[in-house]
Amino acid sequence: TVSAFSPYKAEGPMIIAHRGASGYAPENTMAAFELAERLGADFIELDIRMSKDGELVIIHDKTVDRTTDKTGYVHDFTLRELQGMDAGSFFDAKYANETIVTLEEVMYAFGGKIGILIEIKDPQLYPGIEGKLAKTVRRYELIQDIAGIGAHDSVQIQSFDFESMRRMHTLLPDIPVAVLINADQHPLTDETLDKLASYASSINVSHDLLDEDLVREIHDRNRKVMAWTIRKDQDMERMKELGVDGIITDYPA
Ligand code: G3P
Ligand code: CA
Repeated sequence: TVSAFSPYKAEGPMIIAHRGASGYAPENTMAAFELAERLGADFIELDIRMSKDGELVIIHDKTVDRTTDKTGYVHDFTLRELQGMDAGSFFDAKYANETIVTLEEVMYAFGGKIGILIEIKDPQLYPGIEGKLAKTVRRYELIQDIAGIGAHDSVQIQSFDFESMRRMHTLLPDIPVAVLINADQHPLTDETLDKLASYASSINVSHDLLDEDLVREIHDRNRKVMAWTIRKDQDMERMKELGVDGIITDYPA
């Protein structure tokens, strides 16, 4: 299929709406994803976990406590139970109808319109999550192809768990994977960077750890670098000056 949609722009960093446009709407909900699309973001970023009955659902935390009206671990609830939760009121009462949604719902609602950057959260808690995600992405690609909507590079996968991303790359060699870098993995040695570059298309780094040297070391390996999570204008400007390829932000506007 000829790609009808590519999230990459001719110039300037891609704008990735973190957990959707989560600065203005409840994170990881349809409302936040719709807003990101309306604001013209290139990608939405979202976090996946697995329900008790093995469905891929979108929620950042291990538990539902912070972002819903219930308490408990995500993996102790069935999909139906998770879909019944209020995932919007924690942000603003006017979003009380937002619920926890599945990855598939979001892929079919937004595929071909905006890129989707999927973060696997705590893969060790959800055995088999990589295989499930691979199947979901393949099914999605097939349906997009039948619909004539090519989606080159419009689905990407990231995690803090390097081993999980190495597995993901083996399962889906044509889908870009990224590793997330925070202070625990910093500074990165040349050896680690070489290893990461052998399967990751992109190294996505906490913005405060980024400087000219690290951007150059990643670009020298012909890999992209995306910065997270930008919430202030001055950080946005610094990232643009550093020449990053993507800016993951709560405020895509
Ligand atoms: O995209 C990077 C960022 O999402 C990683 O941190 O905690 O917001 O998932 P977190
Ligand atoms: Ca995330």
